[in-house]
Amino acid sequence: MKKLFGILLVAGLVAGSAVAKEAKEDDVQARIAPVGTTCMQGDECAAAPAPAAAAGPKSGKDVFSGFCTTCHGAGVMGAPKYGTAADWAPRIAKGKDTLYTHAINGFNAMPPKGMCAACTDDELKAAVDYMIDHSK
Ligand code: HEC
Repeated sequence: MKKLFGILLVAGLVAGSAVAKEAKEDDVQARIAPVGTTCMQGDECAAAPAPAAAAGPKSGKDVFSGFCTTCHGAGVMGAPKYGTAADWAPRIAKGKDTLYTHAINGFNAMPPKGMCAACTDDELKAAVDYMIDHSK
């Protein structure tokens, strides 16, 4: 009985130290992990709203997917459709400055700021660029 206890005790110590060692390694892994991790398109992290968006200026993509896509995604009310070169070519021909102005001030059924009231002019311009770049 005494011997068995001894074996169990040893086994317990070995198992215990293994667990402790693992925990330590996790700690180390966490401490030496890179500060910024890369988030690639298609990754789970890319689907979540970018945490940086709240702090810095919104990207053209963020503004587009948050606001412009409502109409420009499907071409609602004659909005030039995202990804459709034929819709955008005549618009692009007017010059980027005109498109920026129309995005900021509105144009016919296109509402001022594309309904993103909190967007800055630069963010709206980035959204225009994003749509144009993906509709050629
Ligand atoms: C409520 C629907 C709606 C939303 C939301 C919307 N648009 Fe539009 N947009 C339109 C319509 C409709 C037109 C076409 C107007 C026309 O040609 O008469 C248009 C046209 C445009 C044009 C072309 C203007 C031109 O001079 O030909 C740009 C650029 C544009 N939108 C940018 C944006 C941006 C950037 C956003 C998001 C911030 C946005 N739109 C959101 C409806 C919308």
